[in-house]
Amino acid sequence: MAKPARIAASILNADFARLGEELGRIEPYLDFLHLDIMDGHFVPNLSYGPPVIASLRHVSRLFFDAHLMVTNPMALFEALAKAGANSVTVHIEVYPDPARAAAAARDLGLQFGLVLNPPTPFAAVAPFLELCDLLLVMSVNPGFGGQGFIPEVLEKVEAARKLIDSRGLAADIEIDGGITPDTARLARRAGADAFVAGTAVVRAPDPVGAVEELRAAVRD
Ligand code: DX5
Ligand code: ZN
Repeated sequence: MAKPARIAASILNADFARLGEELGRIEPYLDFLHLDIMDGHFVPNLSYGPPVIASLRHVSRLFFDAHLMVTNPMALFEALAKAGANSVTVHIEVYPDPARAAAAARDLGLQFGLVLNPPTPFAAVAPFLELCDLLLVMSVNPGFGGQGFIPEVLEKVEAARKLIDSRGLAADIEIDGGITPDTARLARRAGADAFVAGTAVVRAPDPVGAVEELRAAVRD
């Protein structure tokens, strides 16, 4: 059984000159904040890192979920923990055996999650779900906000839901990329617990209204 749905915003496509102000407006309506860290190597884009997260920590009380789209994520764990991140998710494509990364994260007081790209099969993460607080299923190829949702990934959400439920595991299933009320509804039906929306929230004329529409869409 999926847990009560949680909604997060990704600030990747926000106006970085007004980040604090934009976050302040939507913060009361969110369950957590999704932070996209990119290194220009694992993905062909650069975003921001621990200093920006530390600044946001001063103005926000939300849970900070750091999605690490970088080739060497463990090198960032300590700085992210100090900056105020609450969880780190690392791509299975860079750590095919993630036990050491999970242990390192927990030593720093961070929750731990695994992420899989759209072409990566669920079988790649299935043996490691016990290690995870979070399984993040990418519904776009990572690197940029504003892309279209890839519906084929819903099969992986369904497979993860079945395995997590049948084994009584704790991991939440999060979906990220191209999330709108319509795609969030599909992902909820497939068994997702947490929904990350970037463009649909931060580029909406009414960001608060956009969060509320998402929430209504995933209400059971
Ligand atoms: C993509 C990022 C996503 C993205 C979501 O690389 O991991 O978190 O910012 O943005 P939208 O909702 O615009 O796809
Ligand atoms: Zn992300």
